[in-house]
Amino acid sequence: MLNNVLATIDGRRDQTLALLKEFLAIPSISAQPDHKADVRRCAQWVADQLKFAMLETSVMETAGHPVVVAKNKHVAGRPTVLVYGHYDVQPPEPLELWTTPAFEPQVRKTAAGTDAVFARGAVDDKGQVMCHLEAITAWQAHGGVPVNLTVLIEGEEEVGSVNLPPFIRQYKDSLKADVCVISDTNQFERGYPAITTGLRGLVYQEIIVKGPARDLHSGIYGGAVSNPANVLARLIASLHDENGRVTLPGFYDDVMELSAEERAAWRKLPFDEKAYIDDLKVAAADGGEKGYSIFERTWARPTCDVNGLTAGYQGAGAKTVIGSQASAKISFRLVAKQDPAKILASFQKTMRERAPKGVTLEFLDHGTAPAYLVPQSSPAVAAGRRAIATGFGKPATLIGSGGSIPIAATIKSELGIDSLFVGFGLPDDCVHSPNEKFDLDCLHAGARTAAALYTELAKA
Ligand code: BES
Ligand code: MN
Ligand code: MN
Repeated sequence: MLNNVLATIDGRRDQTLALLKEFLAIPSISAQPDHKADVRRCAQWVADQLKFAMLETSVMETAGHPVVVAKNKHVAGRPTVLVYGHYDVQPPEPLELWTTPAFEPQVRKTAAGTDAVFARGAVDDKGQVMCHLEAITAWQAHGGVPVNLTVLIEGEEEVGSVNLPPFIRQYKDSLKADVCVISDTNQFERGYPAITTGLRGLVYQEIIVKGPARDLHSGIYGGAVSNPANVLARLIASLHDENGRVTLPGFYDDVMELSAEERAAWRKLPFDEKAYIDDLKVAAADGGEKGYSIFERTWARPTCDVNGLTAGYQGAGAKTVIGSQASAKISFRLVAKQDPAKILASFQKTMRERAPKGVTLEFLDHGTAPAYLVPQSSPAVAAGRRAIATGFGKPATLIGSGGSIPIAATIKSELGIDSLFVGFGLPDDCVHSPNEKFDLDCLHAGARTAAALYTELAKA
C-alpha cells in the first residue's frame, strides 16, 4: 500500500506546490496584532485541508491564536501518532530585502541551482506541515492512514507557544498518543537528510532600564544622571567574559557536558567551515565560547544574545539627548539540564545587582522552554531512519540543533511521550530572514518521508 501512496505523492507535485502557495499567501504573523484575522483565516485553511482528507477536524480556541486538531478514526490496538506543527510565521521585516514580497510565493532558482518556493513560512513551518498534509491526504485515498493519527497545528509557536501548555493539559485525554512527530527542523545539508536529536531551550526576556522622568538635554544633564542607554550597554557587556562565557552566577551549574561519542560523531560530519564563513560574509565565526567547535557551540553549549536594542534618539541626524529609558530583548539558549526558571531568576537578580541606584529595571517575559534531548535508541528514531531512507533514498544523519521548539518539553511532561524530529529544511533556507524558501525537492521528499513514517510507526 505504501508504494501506491508514494506513487500518488509523486504524481501530485504540481498540486502540492499549488496548495502550498495558497497556504503561504496567508500572512499568519502571530506576533503582530494587526494580523489576528489572517492568523485565524490560516487556521481555517489548515482545517479545510484536513477535513478534505476526511479527518474529524476542529479549530479550537485558546487565550491566543486558535489550534487546529484533527483525527482519523482511532482503532484499538494501533499505535497513536501525534503530529505537531505550526501555521504561524515570523514577521517578514525588513521588507525591502525581499526579492519578491514575503506573502506572494514565487518559485525560482536558488543559489545552489535548485528550484524553491520563496515566501515567509516556506520552510518554517508551512512547507513542512504541507508534507504531512499531502502524506495524510494520499494515505486517506488508499484505505486510510495506517496509525491512529492526531494532528495538532498551532498558531503561536513563533511567539513561544504560551497558550498551548494549558490547552494540552485541558485536552490531555483526547491528545493521548504513543509518540509525537515534529517536522520543523533541518536536514544536515543537501543530500544529508537528518533526524535532530537535541534542541536548545530558551529564556527570552526584555529588560527596560528607566532613568529620569523625561528626556533630558545631554549637555545640561550629562554627568549628573545615569543615562539609561549607557547603563544598558554596560549591563549587556557584563553578560559575557573575555572567553565568551556567560557571567550569570550559576549559569553553567547544570549544563550537561557533551559525551565523547557525540563529540567524535559531530567531528566526523562533513563540514566546510570556510564555506560556512563565506556564506555569512564574515571574517571569522568567532562568537560564543572559546575551545568549542561551531557544532558544539550551537548544538550543545548555552548562549546569550541580544535580539533587539532600543535607546536614545533613533531618527535621522543628531539629537543631543539622554533618553529617559532604554531597552533590550535578550535571549538565552539553554542546553540539557539547565532549568529555565533558575536562569531567569539569576538574570533578573544579577541585572538588579549590577545596575546603579539612579535607574530602575523592569522585565517583560517573552517565553521560556527547557532544552530537549531525544533518546537516540528509541524505536521512533529507528522508524524515522527507515522512513528517511524511503523518502529521500539516502541514509539519515543524526544532528543537533541550536533552535527551540518550546512545546516538545510540555508534550513530554504532560503526555509522557517523546518527540521525533524529522525535518526537511536546508541550512540555506533563510529561516526567520528575508527570502525564506523551501526547495521543491525537499517538499516532495518530505511528503514521501511523512507517508513512509506512518507505515514505520505502525510497525514500531
Ligand atoms: N522551527 C524553528 C526552530 C528550528 C529551526 C529548529 C531550525 C531547528 C532548526 C521554530 O519555529 C523556531 O523558530 N522557534 C523559536 C522559538 C521561540 C520563538 C520561542 C526559536 O528557536 O527561536
Ligand atoms: Mn518552526
Ligand atoms: Mn521559527
